[in-house]
Amino acid sequence: MTTDATDTTVTDEAVRSLHATTDPRLRELLTGLIRHLHAFARETRLTQQEWERAIGFLTATGQTCTDTRQEFILLSDVLGLSMLVETIHGNNADRAAGATESTVLGPFHMTESPARELGADIDLVGGGEPCVVSGRVLSRDGTPLPGAVVDVWQADGNGFYDVQRPEVQPPGNGRGLFTADAEGRFWFRTCVPSPYPIPTDGPVGDLLRATARHPYRPAHIHFIASAEDHVPVTTHIFVAGSDYLDSDAVFAVKPSLVQEFTRTDDSSLAREFGVPNPFRHARFDLVLEHS
Ligand code: BEZ
Ligand code: FE
Repeated sequence: MTTDATDTTVTDEAVRSLHATTDPRLRELLTGLIRHLHAFARETRLTQQEWERAIGFLTATGQTCTDTRQEFILLSDVLGLSMLVETIHGNNADRAAGATESTVLGPFHMTESPARELGADIDLVGGGEPCVVSGRVLSRDGTPLPGAVVDVWQADGNGFYDVQRPEVQPPGNGRGLFTADAEGRFWFRTCVPSPYPIPTDGPVGDLLRATARHPYRPAHIHFIASAEDHVPVTTHIFVAGSDYLDSDAVFAVKPSLVQEFTRTDDSSLAREFGVPNPFRHARFDLVLEHS
């Protein structure tokens, strides 16, 4: 093997080293990775010190990961890679046909949501603005999907997930696994979410500071909706009017996912949902594509 990296020899040799790979997709992915990494180093004339700094950064990113923290997903998110992959493979083509658009999973779905009765309050701590979220899970042709499962998770009124603040939030705070009723309906109580910063106390925070970027995400609630014979959707709803809708730190906002959390003054409806009157009410349907 030659060591003259100013020509393509090392690239071709590295690619050739994959010739015995039996998995064709693995070979395709690694070939592309080698070619693009090498092209990047040539194009930017990457120095030895910069390479060492990048290795140090990636090492620190790995060392920051724990059972409840995924700094690599966060890195992928702030570089726009998560959203790119999601956009390539998400159900965006189906959007025109009426299915709910998908968006990023994010790093905080690492713990199972507790099963809860319809109407339950997922805000176990209280203190936020009371809110009802309700809607139906439908097939794209409008047929309700009884028994559909709706997995929900959100940050508390201070912008933290339960796993980030185990000393002040009980496990499962802001999370719930709901089963739609015989008409495909779901509803639950919570607090209106607020914008929050993604974690900035690790290498990804250093990256944001070095590039003068803010770490905020607009207020949102996460959902995964699934039903028999349908393609599950991983998505959020964003609170209409929230700050940062036009500058989400992870590029995950799609206009169809922005929903009104309408201020509602209706004491009989408030009684029905078990919330104080007035309350905020987000109503939307989750529409799934047939598999
Ligand atoms: C979230 O919404 O939970 C999230 C998504 C991407 C990065 C950080 C947080
Ligand atoms: Fe979130």
